[in-house]
Amino acid sequence: MRVLSGIQPTGRFHWGNYFGAIRQYIQLQHEDEAFYFIANLHALTTIRDAQQLNQLTLDAALDLLALGLDPDAATLFLQSDIPEISELTWILMTGTPMGLLERCHAFKEKKARGVSADAGLFTYPVLMAADILGYDSNCVPVGQDQVQHIEVARDIARSFNHHYGDCFVQPEASLLDSSAKVPGTDGEKMSKSYDNIIPVFAEEQALNKQIMRISTDSRAMEDAKEPETDHLYQLFCLFGKAEQQQEMAAMYRQGGFGYGDIKKQLAAAAEAYFGPARERRKKLTQDSSYVQDVLTAGATKARLKAAEVLDRVQHATGLVR
Ligand code: ADP
Ligand code: TRP
Repeated sequence: MRVLSGIQPTGRFHWGNYFGAIRQYIQLQHEDEAFYFIANLHALTTIRDAQQLNQLTLDAALDLLALGLDPDAATLFLQSDIPEISELTWILMTGTPMGLLERCHAFKEKKARGVSADAGLFTYPVLMAADILGYDSNCVPVGQDQVQHIEVARDIARSFNHHYGDCFVQPEASLLDSSAKVPGTDGEKMSKSYDNIIPVFAEEQALNKQIMRISTDSRAMEDAKEPETDHLYQLFCLFGKAEQQQEMAAMYRQGGFGYGDIKKQLAAAAEAYFGPARERRKKLTQDSSYVQDVLTAGATKARLKAAEVLDRVQHATGLVR
């Protein structure tokens, strides 16, 4: 079985990215084969400053390694290092109905807001389909918002296979229910677009500051409260063990607590969870060639697989001499 996923380097990673996607990458890296890449071609649809994209790409690779992605177990590479995928994107594009892409949420939302979209954003799901199909991927770990794109990849694979004969493997999305949607400091979905994120690699002080920003209601200390609908409780549950979660839930239902105490407990739990990764990251940055070497080795391995799939597609479509 091959596990594959990509993540865009459009900002530093936040808790939503970690609990919704990255944590699964790490859990699944010991499957037969795991391919993970930094989707810098996708990021071009939002970041148009070369130095910034370059830096964020490197940061993303370092973050993943510091968080536990093991290059001996998983293949880590940059999307742009595999030109076969761009050729495959064009081939897939020729068979993708406009209507399928018009229904995709990133484009639909932009259009609804009256913002003009470019062809890159419109055809974004086709590049994502090529990313997935181009490595014969079986399992694609992602957050909830990417499930639609995996459906698109499945549709494209189905129609290609129907037309040209069996060429592509049908991928399945893999989703962790409990953290499918991590709330941000305002209770909405955590996202860098909403200014409500808590960064994974914030230093302790900055982390505490972000945690203190988490919005709460104006309930009196003695009043009881339902934990399940409270985003501070949901954030706590990302870190707390089952019994700590139960204790916290009981406290909510009983009342007589202040949100400040819970925020302190959350800050301590988050620091215990991410503090060691932050230290690992510092060590990784001391060896300037380490990440480059990991990415080069990853690209070599990924390219071999992509070339094999592209060759199959070229033969199926008649793109050979
Ligand atoms: P953002 O919304 O901050 O722009 P991305 O769209 O780059 O984040 O998401 C990268 C990955 O992290 C995707 O797989 C996405 O599903 C996941 N993800 C992002 N935000 C959340 C969240 N709040 N909860 C769960 N998963 C998330
Ligand atoms: N579109 C994904 C996101 O924004 C990133 C991505 C690109 C991806 N190609 C992929 C995810 C292939 C899974 C598989 O998060």
